[in-house]
Amino acid sequence: MSARPVASGAAPVTIATLAAMKADGAPIAMVTAYDHPGAQVAEAAGADVVLVGDSAAMTVLGYDSTVPITVDEMLMLAAAVRRGLRRALLVADLPFASYEASDEQAVRTAQRFVKQAGADAVKVERGGTTAQRARAIVAAGIPVMGHVGLTPQTATALGGYRAQGRTAEAAVQVARDASALVQAGCFALVFEAIPAEVTAALVPRLPVPVIGIGAGPAADGQVLVVHDLLGITEGPTARFVKRYAEVRKAMVDGVTAYVDDVRARSYPAREHGYAMAPGEAQRLPALLADLD
Ligand code: KIV
Repeated sequence: MSARPVASGAAPVTIATLAAMKADGAPIAMVTAYDHPGAQVAEAAGADVVLVGDSAAMTVLGYDSTVPITVDEMLMLAAAVRRGLRRALLVADLPFASYEASDEQAVRTAQRFVKQAGADAVKVERGGTTAQRARAIVAAGIPVMGHVGLTPQTATALGGYRAQGRTAEAAVQVARDASALVQAGCFALVFEAIPAEVTAALVPRLPVPVIGIGAGPAADGQVLVVHDLLGITEGPTARFVKRYAEVRKAMVDGVTAYVDDVRARSYPAREHGYAMAPGEAQRLPALLADLD
């Protein structure tokens, strides 16, 4: 495990920092990262919280949902992100089937993320029995972020990737899940794909910061998947995604230009190579002839 490095500039973000930001009405900016350069980008951009989301399953490992990603895969990604962060708080997702079975399983998995990857906190999905698991992890001294609304690990049970809380009764269920996680000791919540009115009604009732993704502007902060916001993801994205760059296009253009140069023999040019020491090229043929 790598301990959190000492911040060189601004003070590191802590759970107390996030609570103070909620109290002050200062928006919290959270973004995902899955590797060392991604962490450095998030850090340079001034993100307050960096999430090693299990969205990594789809964004960087090529699975078609978040379900298959393993603890070992997530640990490797989280450790790389840790090495790139100074100020931001590092939260790591506990992947599907790594915490639901028992309190013991939940605590053991969370401890691996702190000890082996250097995570500051872990995130768990759903209310219900997850609240009990969150309570056990918090009791073991590890901060927990909850995640309600659309919970991708159990999207099948929710009827697919669709907004949650669209009727008053369903919104009350979101409120119940959120409240159970807060009572279990969660220091913050993610609200995913929840109508803006529901977020606006619930955020003032919740004593911890609420980070929204597709949950409207009333949340205390926002989170997006970095591959979505940078335009690295191929194909359609959720309606809540705003694209801030077209990085995939820039990457394809760059690699295409390289491939074209190689085929045209215009790369490498003289300045991309090395030369022998003065006079040595003239001596070489005779020495090679001696080899024959
Ligand atoms: O896995 C993830 O990236 C997430 C965010 C979408 C909140 O859980």
